[in-house]
Amino acid sequence: MILIKSRLRLHYRPTLASLLTIFVSATPTFALTNGPIPVLQIKADQVTTPVSPMLYGLMTEEINYSYEGGLYGELIRNRSFKANPTNAVFWSAIGGAAISLDPTMPLNDALNVSLKLEAPNASKEAPAGIVNGGYWGIPLRPHTSYHVSFYARAANGFGGPLTVSLESTNGKTLASVEVTAGITGNWTKFDLELKTKRLKPSKENIFKITTAAPGTVWLQQISLFPPTFNHRSNGNRPDLMALLADMHPKFLRLPGGNYLEGDYLNERFDWKKTIGDVAQRPGHRSPWNYWSTDGLGLLEYLEWCEDLQMEPLLAVFAGYTLRHDYVQPGSELEPYVQDALDEIEYVTGDATTTKWGARRAQDGHPTPFPLHYVEVGNEDEFDRSGSYDGRFTQFFNAIKAKYPNLQVIATANVKSSVPDLLDEHYYRSQEEMEAQSHLYDTRERGGRTKVFVGEWATRVGSPTPNMAGALGDAAWMCCMERNSDLVLMHSYAPLFVNVSDLGQGRSMQWRSDLIGYDALTSYGSPSYYAQVMFSSRHGDQVLATDSQNIPTYDWHVPARRRNGVEQPASTRQVPSLFFDATRASASGTIYLKVVNRAATPQLVKVEISGAASIAAKGLATVLKADKPDDTNSLQDPRKIVPVTGKTKGLGANFTRTFPPYSISVLELRAK
Ligand code: AHR
Repeated sequence: MILIKSRLRLHYRPTLASLLTIFVSATPTFALTNGPIPVLQIKADQVTTPVSPMLYGLMTEEINYSYEGGLYGELIRNRSFKANPTNAVFWSAIGGAAISLDPTMPLNDALNVSLKLEAPNASKEAPAGIVNGGYWGIPLRPHTSYHVSFYARAANGFGGPLTVSLESTNGKTLASVEVTAGITGNWTKFDLELKTKRLKPSKENIFKITTAAPGTVWLQQISLFPPTFNHRSNGNRPDLMALLADMHPKFLRLPGGNYLEGDYLNERFDWKKTIGDVAQRPGHRSPWNYWSTDGLGLLEYLEWCEDLQMEPLLAVFAGYTLRHDYVQPGSELEPYVQDALDEIEYVTGDATTTKWGARRAQDGHPTPFPLHYVEVGNEDEFDRSGSYDGRFTQFFNAIKAKYPNLQVIATANVKSSVPDLLDEHYYRSQEEMEAQSHLYDTRERGGRTKVFVGEWATRVGSPTPNMAGALGDAAWMCCMERNSDLVLMHSYAPLFVNVSDLGQGRSMQWRSDLIGYDALTSYGSPSYYAQVMFSSRHGDQVLATDSQNIPTYDWHVPARRRNGVEQPASTRQVPSLFFDATRASASGTIYLKVVNRAATPQLVKVEISGAASIAAKGLATVLKADKPDDTNSLQDPRKIVPVTGKTKGLGANFTRTFPPYSISVLELRAK
């Protein structure tokens, strides 16, 4: 017997013959078989379904400091002083200054408070002011321009100057500029550039505004932006966008998740408050318990889609919140339905003939965005009031009446209408994910409703998944890809985590997130690379497959309580080898994906029927690890990455050894 983990056991007793079978594969691995050789059969003349053109996608929301302190370029934390109602959190006073929040001196109705800086004793020798340390540091790079903007107004007599600077935490000034004029008794906006010189990239820096003259000044919307992806103003962080671009995503499910709903009605994603001038956006509390400025608002989401050539999958607020507030279907719900119709018009409407299309043009984007999918709510099975059936149908009818071509997605089962898709969520252990790796093979077909797996993840590894997570994910992706006629779309969640401060309630609210980062650098988890492999290596046709002798392991499921029902401990047999095959109709290339979750190399026989010829040479891309808990991190970002190389020994019938803990994509040239 071969032990995988103490509680997992491979089946198949080794026979003398099998123990003597040593196979040398095209990859230099030796395998000791311990049972009948698994056979993977691919029927190249039988296409079961086209691969869904919407594979693969992304899901996003403000969680784990995904935007604030993440993708959104802003480097100042609590720029609008609304993160805490009583304290100017993340700001501190220096040089004997006093700071306080002043609700009597608002910038406007949205930013209805400001920071009062009192510096009665400031002098050239002893400047006084404020400091911000960013989101766990302020990342600075050499020879780089940083855009600073802020609003200021002064008490009688104070005219500055104010010095704006970037400093290292050990006191070295790295860039600095003075505001010498324009600070008056009225709110005035200042825009400045700070340029660094030669320096070592680091995040051990602070942002400072100081005065060398005594006085009182009020400040609001203090912003510091580095260069962004595609040089968008108010744009996104380039390294994270580059990681996403490598996933070749087809869509972005936005803006949540729980973030769409909010804890309470007034904390929902109220899209109309997230557009226009950022200084006119009030911001709101994320249900993940921190403040969002909504600097990354609806238009920024859409531009993010545009930058990565993916389309938005728009989730509209459907009158239900996480704390179970709900709006009765009928006239009470009508304003929310209208809000959703307006939102769709903002995304897709003509810039000259529609009200919300014109508003989008005024906000800087005359061209409408493509939109085919709208989701009504999020995880509405939690709404125990039973109102979702009525709420969904009211949204569904209104959306279909105005936009008959839009596909409308439900988040829970409904009876009063037939959704185009149903959003299913799966957060699972590795064993659970592997145990359900044939879920959709046997799901009944025939109904009109298709499946959108809007959130899924093998939750193994923290903050980001390890190789065990990637293996569970790959098994599950084989299942979804194989069942493309039913599963039209899917997206892993959560996408991002700021790994700077992993204590409870700090930079991470949810563990096992696809991409990790701090203020300066970022990395993809093994699960991220599994997705990159799947999304960039598949054909447009799913081929029929069959198999024999797929090895299994014993999964000892402990006693547990599920949905209020006690379930005794049990042992389940779960496959340890997973696969699927697709073909690119234009080139004939067959993409065979094989996942070996076992601790041992796996000798496999591949039989391909129905093709005139298959070349012996092809390509192999392999992601593998020595141990299931091997992972990537900020310190070791590329420990586990896919490696692509030429391979030989392929053909209509061949044997090959797949390494332990591995995910492989073979590209076979077929005619
Ligand atoms: O992905 C994390 C959360 O899980 C989502 O916000 C929510 O939809 C789900 O419960």
